[in-house]
Amino acid sequence: MEKDDQIKIDDRFSNKVGVEYDLLPLALPFYDALQNEIASVIQKKFTNDPIVLVELGCGTGLTTIKLVDALPRARVTAVDVEAIMLEQAKKNKKLESVAFVLSDLLAYLKKLPDASVDAIASGYCIHNMPPEYRRAAFLEMGRVLKPGGVISNGDKIVPDDILKYWELFRDELSGLRAFRNTKHPELEGEWIEHYFIDDRLRFTELEQKDLMAVAGCGNVNFSNRWMTTTVCSGIKKSV
Ligand SMILES: C[S@@+](CC[C@H](N)C(=O)[O-])C[C@H]1O[C@@H](n2cnc3c(N)ncnc32)[C@H](O)[C@@H]1O
Repeated sequence: MEKDDQIKIDDRFSNKVGVEYDLLPLALPFYDALQNEIASVIQKKFTNDPIVLVELGCGTGLTTIKLVDALPRARVTAVDVEAIMLEQAKKNKKLESVAFVLSDLLAYLKKLPDASVDAIASGYCIHNMPPEYRRAAFLEMGRVLKPGGVISNGDKIVPDDILKYWELFRDELSGLRAFRNTKHPELEGEWIEHYFIDDRLRFTELEQKDLMAVAGCGNVNFSNRWMTTTVCSGIKKSV
């Protein structure tokens, strides 16, 4: 990207989109199913084990709640770079057992020891970053995961078929009309702008498969697709 064309990635949720983030499920009716699936992938592997679980980009806690419910014995650390989002999560009584960390996720991962984490979960976070950052993040995820550990990434990971993708992207934009009947009709425009930046940072299935390999993960699986969103999981191979 040219310097003047650079996308400011570190404050994509510091505006109205972040303050009113919990209204997004109005435009994405599958939101709850997506969050359940992110947690379910990890639960299937570890059932009720007392695992070490790191969540990247927890935002207001919509993914975190599902993780805590599905894995009641897990030790959960949830990381987010945006104070506006994290403060909303911290106020949630259901999340009292969670350790919240205000940090860039890559900086946080870099501080963790090798093979110290059983599972990494992330919801709608990684697509917000440029490809080189995504690669660095998956490299670190692979380093901190124990062999047999799981990555569960529910995200805007778009089909490789460009025509299919544009069809889904158009449907997703239409969904933003749902904000017209709320107290915040201006969110339609804010989210349209956000979606077009997502498009410029486009995260494809092909790239996600490659990043699972970068993390040293096999058994790569895409479970479900809801418009441009899917859940991709992988299991860290033993060396
Ligand atoms: C779309 S929200 C998703 C929140 C929640 N996981 C969900 O699915 O509802 C994405 C979150 O990722 C956070 N984020 C973006 N870039 C980040 C980074 N580099 N490090 C940590 N968090 C980041 C944002 O602040 C935001 O709260």
